[in-house]
Amino acid sequence: MTNPIIRIEGVNKEYGKGKNTVAALKDINIEINPGDYVAVVGPSGCGKSTLLHVMAGLEQPTNGRILLDGVDVTLISERDLPKVRAEKIGFVFQSFLLIDDLTSYENIEAVLWPNSDLNPHVQEEMSLEVLREVDMLERRDHRPLQLSGGEQQRIAIARALVNNPPILFCDEPTGNLDSQTGETIMKMIAQLNRDRKMTVVLVTHNEDLIKYAKRVIRMRDGAIRSDK
Ligand SMILES: Nc1ncnc2c1ncn2[C@@H]1O[C@H](COP(=O)(O)OP(=O)(O)OP(=O)(O)O)[C@@H](O)[C@H]1O
Ligand SMILES: [Mg+2]
Repeated sequence: MTNPIIRIEGVNKEYGKGKNTVAALKDINIEINPGDYVAVVGPSGCGKSTLLHVMAGLEQPTNGRILLDGVDVTLISERDLPKVRAEKIGFVFQSFLLIDDLTSYENIEAVLWPNSDLNPHVQEEMSLEVLREVDMLERRDHRPLQLSGGEQQRIAIARALVNNPPILFCDEPTGNLDSQTGETIMKMIAQLNRDRKMTVVLVTHNEDLIKYAKRVIRMRDGAIRSDK
């Protein structure tokens, strides 16, 4: 029996107070095995992004436990959380979230700080290697605004890979792209699952994307409706 790489136990997330309280997540329990590819689908506002954010330690759940690769991220101090996140997960967002003032190469190098004790040449090689992996080496000195949306997302994927984390979280990664570019990105993510054996959790409202996943979790009103 394999141990799950992600374990979510009794997670609730409430926003606001009193009669304005929104229950964004209601008693969520999920176990995800290493190497799995899970699509989380459901209508707008059902809690998909909230789920991914609490899984990634970007937001604290109101209660419950989140174990990533054996570490309970709800118990880690604010100070230590960024390092744990960098080591355990890569995150790809709908809006890319690159830093406009930095080149492609610099955007990637900027997140290498957990590996900052490595020789600078090794760090450079790590950054170039992931640029090569997403086929963006020739755009290394371009800034985000000089790149197409698909190219920006490839840089964002390279950034998610550079610390070699075992887990990849994607929130609507093709939401800002045309369908053909979106397909290129989806194939790239599938390849990372297949070849790098990364555990992928991908959130989307787009039913066309579930064909890439091995397991589909459907959400509605903050709760899990089905899991196949
Ligand atoms: N920071 C916040 N403060 C208050 N309410 C929030 C906050 N973030 C999310 N919510 C509410 O929590 C619920 C779930 O939001 P969430 O963003 O997780 O939905 P989603 O499934 O990702 O939707 P979409 O497909 O539109 O991205 C919604 O009702 C939303 O209004
Ligand atoms: Mg969302």
